[in-house]
Amino acid sequence: MYRTHHCNELRASAIGTLVKLAGWVHVRRDHGGVVFIDLRDREGLTQVVFRPEENATATEVAHTLRHEDVVQVEGKVAPRIPGTENPKLATGDIEILPDQLRILNRADVLPFPLDSDPSNEDLRLSYRYFDLRRPQIARNLRIRHRITKATRDFLDAEGFVEIETPILSKSTPEGARDFLVPSRLAPGKFYALPQAPQQYKQLLMVGGIEKYFQIAKCFRDEDLRADRQPEFTQIDIEASFVEPEDIFKLVEGMLAAIFRASRGVEIQTPFPRMTWHDAMDLFGSDKPDRRFAMPLVDLADTFASSSFKMFRGALDAGGAVKAIKAKQFALVTTGQMEELTTMAKLYGAKGLAFIKVENGKWQSPLVKFFTEEEKAALTSKLQMEEGDLVLFAADKWEVVCEVLGRLRLRISEFQQLTAGSDVHDFLWVTDFPLMAFDAAENKWNAVHHPFTRPKAKDVPLIEAGEYGKARAEAYDVVLNGVEIGGGSIRIHEPDLQAKMFAALGVSEEDQQTMFGHILRAFRLGAPPHGGIAMGLDRMVMLICGEQSIREVMAFPKNNRGVDLMSQSPTEVDARQLRDLALKLAEKKQD
Ligand code: AMO
Ligand code: AMP
Repeated sequence: MYRTHHCNELRASAIGTLVKLAGWVHVRRDHGGVVFIDLRDREGLTQVVFRPEENATATEVAHTLRHEDVVQVEGKVAPRIPGTENPKLATGDIEILPDQLRILNRADVLPFPLDSDPSNEDLRLSYRYFDLRRPQIARNLRIRHRITKATRDFLDAEGFVEIETPILSKSTPEGARDFLVPSRLAPGKFYALPQAPQQYKQLLMVGGIEKYFQIAKCFRDEDLRADRQPEFTQIDIEASFVEPEDIFKLVEGMLAAIFRASRGVEIQTPFPRMTWHDAMDLFGSDKPDRRFAMPLVDLADTFASSSFKMFRGALDAGGAVKAIKAKQFALVTTGQMEELTTMAKLYGAKGLAFIKVENGKWQSPLVKFFTEEEKAALTSKLQMEEGDLVLFAADKWEVVCEVLGRLRLRISEFQQLTAGSDVHDFLWVTDFPLMAFDAAENKWNAVHHPFTRPKAKDVPLIEAGEYGKARAEAYDVVLNGVEIGGGSIRIHEPDLQAKMFAALGVSEEDQQTMFGHILRAFRLGAPPHGGIAMGLDRMVMLICGEQSIREVMAFPKNNRGVDLMSQSPTEVDARQLRDLALKLAEKKQD
């Protein structure tokens, strides 16, 4: 037996007993001839004291120990000398007086100290197996485990069956690029790694499974960010004979179970709901962070007949004029203002108009264009007070909302409006648009995915070619401004599905080659069905209070999609390429 106890287990009641512990040398301190070791395992620390007069041999070896050596200690539990107890440590009343010290393995020079938070993330990722010893990451992975366990327990109790679906699969469009895997047996042909198990879960519904879930790995070749990885995990759910209400209730119950198990908190259900249109209109985002107010205030009434061209022109062209008010932000720095302006332009604004209320006056290049009535209307609509900063956008409605939504978030960061908040603001965003026009490609794309059901009322709009106006039976669940899940009720009728593909510009022939299986399946008695997928990593990130999903994944890739630890992706040898009937194009010379 390597050990009788773990390193966070022994208390005063164990004094006098013989124990065996094993773990890592967390800290070694030499005091004269005496060596103190904090022995660490995943549960905690226990102090071991080597005194030359008690055990000369072991003490001599203890002198040679270095941080992170792996050792086994056998000895007696003793009380600490009065006055030297450590109340911060669960095992702080006792120490081990060893009879034996066995070195199980030595550690080399360490890549970085474990007790500080190394700012160099690349270094951490290069030595991830070492980084994992830091208590923060170890804690996160345990919370993640509790979350997946609570998920499985909850869904099992609700009658859901966990079913694995293939990783070597066929392209399912979720809006990202596919990762492709060349087939050796069918030279020139490729599998795609699933962006989500979307088609399989729908086919499981056709197969009569009725209630499916899977903690599913998904693969998307897209630009990476703090909350995006090329390979991530979804809690994927699908059910037959359901309406959105059924999914809402299920997910609310599941999230309540998850928060109870992982944080011991009761969250408020049901969650509030907001249509996509209202979310954009009020917060300029389809995943609004409502922990702070700063709403987008509509000023169409105020400027409908204004002589100020910039605003009036936007309204006359069918667009919008809106503003946000940053309370007590008139002292915005020049650097911050420049950043906000650059951001506004990045998202399509032509400029960034503002008013600062300073010393009882409006500091603004605009004021001279406003009438007294317009000024009075602004003051009352925006409740402008000394020290406030008001930012305006006038453009197409979509641009106005997007721009002000982005500025709103950036200002909340400048002003630290959500710092230290322990609010869990859940929200359902509903009634998403079904399709969006991609001007660059001159075609309509599905906003969610092509299997999403249009609202019954809006089917005639699709038939009339008014694609932009049709809404989807789709919903997202948002937590504190992060989209943690999304889903929809699906199309289950082959004709409607074909109509949808046609609207998306998928030719009859492509429909057969790409989606023939699903269209055929729908002709064999497909039940009405719908579901959702939760971004597990994002959810765990929020529950752990982390800023990046990399902090809650054991072996994440860095923001360039590289696994720095194993140096993947790598080149492959010529033989492997030959087996796959592949030839590399000439490398571009940089
Ligand atoms: P969707 O594409 O919205 O829906 O994905 C569902 C949830 O997965 C998370 N997510 C990600 N997390 C980390 N890294 C990524 N690259 C990433 N991409 C998405 C988000 C998101 O809300 N098949 C549909 C679901 C359905 O219709 O049932 C789907 O995949 O939290
Ligand atoms: P997502 O919903 O995460 O797929 O993001 C949709 C769009 O929002 C993309 O065009 C991103 O570039 C942009 N985006 C998402 N989050 C942020 C953010 N925090 N700051 C700026 N842009 C963002």
